[in-house]
Amino acid sequence: MVSTVSKQKLYSSRIDLATEVREKVVELLNKSLAATLDLKTQVKQAHWNVKGTDFYQLHELFDELAGELEEYIDMVAERATALGGIALGTARVAAAESILPEYPLDAVGGIEHITALADRYAAYAKHVREAIDTTDGLGDADTADMYTEISRTIDMRLWFLEAHLINQ
Ligand SMILES: [Fe+2]
Repeated sequence: MVSTVSKQKLYSSRIDLATEVREKVVELLNKSLAATLDLKTQVKQAHWNVKGTDFYQLHELFDELAGELEEYIDMVAERATALGGIALGTARVAAAESILPEYPLDAVGGIEHITALADRYAAYAKHVREAIDTTDGLGDADTADMYTEISRTIDMRLWFLEAHLINQ
């Protein structure tokens, strides 16, 4: 049973990347997939439950963030399959393998939700930035480029979140 993101036996492929490179990248991609799925569900949790005077703008912002993460989930999963791997993207695998802490389920106000999300975006941003260097070092420029695209947006979103916290 495939129940972990650790090293898989890959499908054969005509792709010109060495098997040991693909194995390492697929393992990393599945870690990223777990974290991205986890982050997306946490952002949805905030979208549904935020309350207070800024309700509507935060409700809308959080949905925009979740939609963006959904695209990255698909990109990351399909990069794993393009490299001959199995994408491990169920809720159970995500919960078991994510690098992020559980969301504070009792969060109510905008600042509470924004703070929780900023903490998690920062942790996710660090993971993605490290993944750029790792995949670049392995000679997989395409995966490094994908991570770079994600990283640029996640840094921008961290700025959007943190902008709400100035003078708080
Ligand atoms: Fe909604």
